Amino acid sequence: MVIALKRRIIGALTDLGMLEMVNEARGLGTLLSPKTILGNRRCRNGGSGDGWPIPPARLIYLVAGTYNVEWFLALGRRGHDAITDTLRRNKIDPRKFEAMLDFGCGCGRVIRHFSDLKNVEICGTDYNGKLIGWCRENLTFAKFGMNELSPPLDYPDSKFDFAYALSVFTHWGQDLEFAWMDEIRRVIKPGGHLLMTTHGQSYLPGLSDDERRRFNGGELVVRRAHLAGKNICTTFFSEAYVRENLSRGCRVVDFVPEGARGNPTQDLYLLRFE
Ligand SMILES: C[S@@+](CC[C@H](N)C(=O)[O-])C[C@H]1O[C@@H](n2cnc3c(N)ncnc32)[C@H](O)[C@@H]1O
Repeated sequence: MVIALKRRIIGALTDLGMLEMVNEARGLGTLLSPKTILGNRRCRNGGSGDGWPIPPARLIYLVAGTYNVEWFLALGRRGHDAITDTLRRNKIDPRKFEAMLDFGCGCGRVIRHFSDLKNVEICGTDYNGKLIGWCRENLTFAKFGMNELSPPLDYPDSKFDFAYALSVFTHWGQDLEFAWMDEIRRVIKPGGHLLMTTHGQSYLPGLSDDERRRFNGGELVVRRAHLAGKNICTTFFSEAYVRENLSRGCRVVDFVPEGARGNPTQDLYLLRFE
């Protein structure tokens, strides 16, 4: 009885977009726990290891759902490595890029690990002004811009050789996904690439019977489309859906199930725009 009531309350708060607030309060409890305080202090005293400042815990929470600094730094590095390994496997040399984009860059968890890529214009964009404000002040090797929830981006046509979007397409309904895919195509050079990560097959056990049926039927499964852009809006993609629908106008040149090592256990796709 109590459990059922708790579930209903949590369900209602979630649909109203308020669960993030509840989670944040709960997370704050974690932040205030001696284990997290000591762990974060140890990490901050040791430095980031990459020479760049570490964002405040409240910003880390906005992109990662955790206040854990060690996690933020280690998995950001793994995300970077997943990208560079994928490029290498596909014989793409990032040192030859003129410009690359981290779309939905958050507070720079992954872009910070590209700071040694000299002679490449490194750009990041996000629709959250707090995250971009921090990046602009602290990650001075890159150029940061803000966009709205819906396109466009403030870049000219064919500016970028490469863009990546880690756990970004995972937080919108279908209309926004198609609109953003078209916009990213506009700013990428012909022959350029987009690397993206999605919630795929590995998330099946957490789906309801109906959601699983739709997923297996090649449909997109969207939870709380009315909260698009927030992490609480969650989208699940089968490989068939990405290949047959989302990747229209481009080619899937690489697919690694659970390959997003910085966003476990998301799938990784490399798309080429013709
Ligand atoms: C789960 S976080 C991932 C952040 C970052 N890519 C990373 O891996 O650390 C999702 C990010 O997408 C951003 N986002 C959501 N909708 C967006 C949109 N329409 N345009 C740009 N960024 C968006 C959010 O603000 C948030 O920073």
